[in-house]
Amino acid sequence: MSEMITLNVNTVDYELDIDPNTPLLWVLREQLGLTGAKYSCGISNCGACTVHVDGQPVKSCTTAVSTVINKQIITIEGLTGPLADALHDAWQTEDVPQCGYCQTGQIMTAAALLRENPTPTKAEVNDVMSDVLCRCGTYLAIRRAIHTVAESASGHGL
Ligand code: FES
Ligand code: FES
Repeated sequence: MSEMITLNVNTVDYELDIDPNTPLLWVLREQLGLTGAKYSCGISNCGACTVHVDGQPVKSCTTAVSTVINKQIITIEGLTGPLADALHDAWQTEDVPQCGYCQTGQIMTAAALLRENPTPTKAEVNDVMSDVLCRCGTYLAIRRAIHTVAESASGHGL
């Protein structure tokens, strides 16, 4: 049964008449037209649908909208600021994407990691990024890009 709920997405409040059990990914893509987060496995295994909820990476395919009311939801479309710019630059320099399908999840996960831990070790990067699968095998380029941003963070205070 649907009801009126308010979701804050990319700093904008949206009033939605929707079943509270609806997965967040469906609302983002179908209702709000934010198609950066992708549907792939649908069972929290691949990370293609990753968004931030109160700064933490969350798999939106298995997150009911009822659990994110009164929280700050940020999608790849709303990921802005010096860290986002540094990630975009490093992704371009390393020519990371192949098909691109997983890359939203990769960047959102990397951003959450680097915000909390600006200079992660290789092991910490591997641990966090193992949450997001890439069928094209861009893992090495992703890790190079993250370490590039981490190195610039120690020099520029990102
Ligand atoms: S589509 Fe959400 S984790 Fe795979
Ligand atoms: S770039 Fe194709 S799935 Fe990752």
